[in-house]
Amino acid sequence: MTLTVRPGRPLRGTLRVPGDKSIAHRALILSAMAQGVSILRNLPGSEDVGATRACLERLGVRQRPGPAGLSVAGRGPHGLAQPAGVLDAGDSGTTARLLLGLLAGLPFAARLTGDPSLRRRPMRRVAEPLRRMGARVRLAAGDHLPASVQGRPLRGIRHVSSVPSAQLKSAVLIAGLLARGQTSVTEPRLSRDHTERLLPLFGARVRRRGLTVTVCGEARLRAARITVPGDASSAAFWVVAAALVPGSRLRLPGVLANPTRLGFLRVLERMGARIASSRPAGDPEPVCELIVRPASLTAAEVRAEEVPALIDEVPLLALAASQARGASRFHGLGELRHKESDRLSGTLRLLRRFGARARLEGDCLVVSGPAPLRGARYDPRGDHRMAMTAAVAGLVAEGRSTVTGAECIAVSYPGFCAELARLAGT
Ligand code: S3P
Repeated sequence: MTLTVRPGRPLRGTLRVPGDKSIAHRALILSAMAQGVSILRNLPGSEDVGATRACLERLGVRQRPGPAGLSVAGRGPHGLAQPAGVLDAGDSGTTARLLLGLLAGLPFAARLTGDPSLRRRPMRRVAEPLRRMGARVRLAAGDHLPASVQGRPLRGIRHVSSVPSAQLKSAVLIAGLLARGQTSVTEPRLSRDHTERLLPLFGARVRRRGLTVTVCGEARLRAARITVPGDASSAAFWVVAAALVPGSRLRLPGVLANPTRLGFLRVLERMGARIASSRPAGDPEPVCELIVRPASLTAAEVRAEEVPALIDEVPLLALAASQARGASRFHGLGELRHKESDRLSGTLRLLRRFGARARLEGDCLVVSGPAPLRGARYDPRGDHRMAMTAAVAGLVAEGRSTVTGAECIAVSYPGFCAELARLAGT
């Protein structure tokens, strides 16, 4: 499917984004590990979350939609069934890595694979600590899916990670729930902390000291009721669109306000964006309402320490930087090369195609603005976030833009194109 975008009318009105993908994966997996029926409200209908649901179904976890939300019949870790055939995580890195953590502690062998893009992404970083805990994990070419996991009785470990990755941290913590003793993960910088926040709801014991989070093993999780807040990363597309399209005034209620996800808002505010936020409220995950208006932007310097809290929003922030006065620098972007596509070169390609000025200095992206954008044809190479970033670029560019292979958007945000048509009339 090719998405055509023309600079449309101002974005005005109210938009509710779907439930947060990261939280949804965790809520589903922890519900499956718990004893009893959990109720999950506002789960997104994205393909990624569908992949987690389908894998859990194959592990014997029954799920039923109902008026109060999705009910997930947890069986306790020892009630999960050996899957017939290979589990398929599709395009979802979170599904694959978190499930590796779960499978590591279950008393059977299982195989896990994904689509061609996921099969290119690194998995050794997860397999290595799981092996130290006692699991047998075999990876293709030592680093990739398909994986064969022979679950074993696990022992707790202390893992010091060299990459700030919430998927890696969560995989080890999930295995830690099944292990004997305590398991801790120390990160070089704090990554999104949804797993740690959700665990106490399920009755698990967790503590954080600085950059180290520890869980107690042999946990007996109980069922929980969770309402998933609006996805901050999905909201980001509309925030940047409304900040750039003259005359916009967009209200986004119910957006996740977890500080480990809102790095993009802090950078946009430093650039001079006009974003009003209500006071975040809610536990364990705070929620807020955002109101965004356009403003003239100035360049920003983004430090490597800030990157984990805005990792999925770098392409969008780079687009905003192309419209800001001065040279913006985004440091420490090496991890972007390991996403659904190589997003570092994908961002550079996108900016240049639309006529922006950008260059790479090692892992640092430098974007000079403001540059008038011209309509372009962009191939996101199957990456949902690159496709949506190109659509937002098309709202700002002069003339017609096309995004080829735009069906990949359904990986995280199936309703995006309909909202774009409704709001921008494009
Ligand atoms: C995610 C963590 C991040 C992020 C991804 C979702 C998660 O990846 O890019 O979209 O749900 O834990 P890493 O853990 O690889 O940094």
